[in-house]
Amino acid sequence: MNYIVSQPNGHERTGKSKHFCRDSEATVDEAQLMEEKRSLTRTTHNRRHLTVSEVELESASMEIILPICAIVLVVLFVVAALSAKVRNTVISSRTYKKAFAVHMNLFSRIHNRAVQKRKEEMFNHMKMALKGVQGDILEIGAGTGANFEFLPEGCSVIALEPNPHMETYLVENAKRFPHVQLKEIVCGYAENMEGIADNSVEAVLCTLTLCSVTDMEAVLSEIKRVLKPGGYFYFLEHVADNPETWRHSFQRTFDDQWKYLSDGCSCCRETSTYLENAGFSSVCYQKFYVNELMLIAYLMLPHIAGYAVK
Ligand SMILES: C[S@@+](CC[C@H](N)C(=O)[O-])C[C@H]1O[C@@H](n2cnc3c(N)ncnc32)[C@H](O)[C@@H]1O
Repeated sequence: MNYIVSQPNGHERTGKSKHFCRDSEATVDEAQLMEEKRSLTRTTHNRRHLTVSEVELESASMEIILPICAIVLVVLFVVAALSAKVRNTVISSRTYKKAFAVHMNLFSRIHNRAVQKRKEEMFNHMKMALKGVQGDILEIGAGTGANFEFLPEGCSVIALEPNPHMETYLVENAKRFPHVQLKEIVCGYAENMEGIADNSVEAVLCTLTLCSVTDMEAVLSEIKRVLKPGGYFYFLEHVADNPETWRHSFQRTFDDQWKYLSDGCSCCRETSTYLENAGFSSVCYQKFYVNELMLIAYLMLPHIAGYAVK
């Protein structure tokens, strides 16, 4: 007996049956072939549906996923390819500095809220240490005046800040916190504070600034020079994570790109090592993670806060 079977590709398969079935007069092969035909027909229908959705899926991925991947790759490539020279030109431009001042005015409020307890601890120590002392506190990298609210009642502050666009915010914040006297704003870098005399200030303060300085050893040596003997240097800084962590690898990998976002700041600086080797009579600090910043600044969660004594 001859048989014809439709194939999924639309062609038909023909052949001859061989064996007879005892009770139904139909051949075994015929019965099998009928079933095969039915199942092939079903498969053919299913495959037609599947094929349509597969094609749709494929074209969707071509249209959305590939361009996104291409854009991400191009951006990463361009950013990575930019040299330190180009980066320095960008971040020292007037427009960038102006924009960074606006950014810091906002970000320092978020950061202050996230580290409120740590700052209170640090400034309580300062209040005790400076109780009854008449003299100046020098803040290096004072930014927009984010620390004014925490400073001791009636203290006199010299704000050293290289970005001239911070000045408006510094003055505004000094007005908001009248318990602080903003004695002077010095436009300059902490690596060379020649305008500030040796042994002249009661305390030096910096927050989120040691990550940005270009010569850490020079800055620490200048801090020791201007501090009165026995004076305190207070710091609260974001630092490199422990070497065996994923974050440490990311910090090292993306340090150059990070500098674009944060005015040349390094997210993997071993600040505590510099402090310990700077020749202070003692250094006391705690390391902690500011998890509140997880969503906006994963690379800067590890912090240290404490003081060093001249
Ligand atoms: C991330 S901001 C922190 C500002 C502020 N201290 C705060 O906690 O919000 C870093 C500041 O350090 C300043 N800065 C960068 N390099 C500096 C340097 N070499 N000497 C002194 N200040 C510097 C920047 O202009 C900027 O205002």
